Amino acid sequence: MLPKINPTTTKAWKKLKIHHLVYEKANVMELFEADPKRFDKFSFGTEDFLFDFSKNIATDKTMELLTDLAEECQLSDAIDALLKGEKINETENRAVLHTALRDFSDKEILVDGKNIKPLIKAERIRIEKLCEQIHSGSWNGYTGKKIKYIVNIGIGGSDLGSSMVTEALRPYWLENIKPFFISNIDGSNLCEVVDQINFEEALFIVASKTFTTQETITNAQTVRKMFVEHCKDEKHIQKHFIAITGNKELANAFGIPSENIFEIWDWVCGRFSLWGSMGITIALTIGYTNFEELLNGANSMDEHFEKTEFNKNIPVLMALLSIWYINFFNTRSEAVLAYDHHLSKFKAYLQQGAMESNGKSIDRSGNEVDYQTGVVIWGESGTNGQHSFHQLLHQGTEITPCDFILTVKNKHGLAGHNKKLLANALAQTEALMKGRNKEETELVVQDVDKQNVCYKTFQGSKPTNTILIKDLTSKNLGVLLACYEHKIFVQGVIWNIFSFDQWGVELGKGLSGEKLEAIQNKRQTETFDQSTKGLIGQILRFDN
Ligand code: F6P
Repeated sequence: MLPKINPTTTKAWKKLKIHHLVYEKANVMELFEADPKRFDKFSFGTEDFLFDFSKNIATDKTMELLTDLAEECQLSDAIDALLKGEKINETENRAVLHTALRDFSDKEILVDGKNIKPLIKAERIRIEKLCEQIHSGSWNGYTGKKIKYIVNIGIGGSDLGSSMVTEALRPYWLENIKPFFISNIDGSNLCEVVDQINFEEALFIVASKTFTTQETITNAQTVRKMFVEHCKDEKHIQKHFIAITGNKELANAFGIPSENIFEIWDWVCGRFSLWGSMGITIALTIGYTNFEELLNGANSMDEHFEKTEFNKNIPVLMALLSIWYINFFNTRSEAVLAYDHHLSKFKAYLQQGAMESNGKSIDRSGNEVDYQTGVVIWGESGTNGQHSFHQLLHQGTEITPCDFILTVKNKHGLAGHNKKLLANALAQTEALMKGRNKEETELVVQDVDKQNVCYKTFQGSKPTNTILIKDLTSKNLGVLLACYEHKIFVQGVIWNIFSFDQWGVELGKGLSGEKLEAIQNKRQTETFDQSTKGLIGQILRFDN
């Protein structure tokens, strides 16, 4: 079980409050001037990574107090509980074992007294076999053509992980394999995918842990209907549909035979599930070996997370710095600025990971929290953001901590482009940190422009982390993703909330049924509120 400690009652929290009063207005440049070893102390290198935390409004003392906070909140016990498979998702009475999916060791992990490692291994062997069959052509479509289109039908954690990773690893796509994703219930998503594929060469993957999610099941049924209309025989479904689910009965009832069903267990949280069968679309797109590399990379970060003391532990430090800003500087959002074009879907993936996990306001004892928990995660890839929202980062009224994620090498071969990309990112972090005061601005503006000096000054001291990656290989991507997963976990532990349930999504889901009925039957329901009634009335008029 996780400890139930209100972080605001700890000694470290109280000391951090006082420490914040002293450092609230600290200038990061001055912190560098005061400490020639600051970069070395605040940056952490691994084989293919450099995590630079030095451009933060933080001193040695800040980090000491933050790690004290982690100790007082019994983070070590919580990490232990997570990795050992204790049922830390208490409101659903489930263990949380995405880390076990990428653990290739023989170490036993028990859930309800049963070692789950053999189950994981067996399922991995099935995924590998499926890849081998599809890629070799021993599993072909009903007309004998090779499978070329992999169509993932799923939403949330059954979509975002696979679509983000396949996009991130685009240079590793196998020849003659193309992944597609149908997630939105908006039929345009489905139609646009169907337009680009050929049923005879398509494998549809119905990815749904529950097999009850309205969007996924509706999309899957429509695709199934289109497929049967095309091939004129239901028996061909078995060559073209597989399921990833924990609900075998419903998948069978849909028409998918048991041998085509890959398992996701209740101890795998949907938003952290890409490491197991939920990653089949990834494995089919980049090949099983690269998929295993992704898992290996994540596993190396798990080991770092488990074994490294807090003051050198990368995800722990990321979480603590984030807490420092959220709870002491009252920051309300974090920007994730991945400069690698292939990481364009990273922020959407992270939004679910962070906001579905830590967007909670009731603590682990059932009390309402009186401190901020999860914040909004947003961002954009590449230099595009510089030409839109970076204005707010530089001169807006509030601090938005940013993660800059940079990849040094790339596969497109346009060397000049990448050097400019890197230079731009570095310039942004420098500008955010240094700013430009009135005197410096006066020196650079033209005489005629002197009245505009106030508009051209920059406060500076805006905190950033820089994550420098040698190249975006499967392994390195695994490291990066596991790092953010653990950051999210650590934050949840310290905020004393349950990070692995998602009750907040249920209310709206439940209410949609009666709206659907009203729209379908063109009839209002008296119990609807005024606004909903007004909107439905207008929908019916527009739809006439
Ligand atoms: O509605 C939220 C959610 O339950 C997510 O947590 C989950 O990833 C997604 O829906 C999809 O659920 P399923 O895999 O059961 O279709």
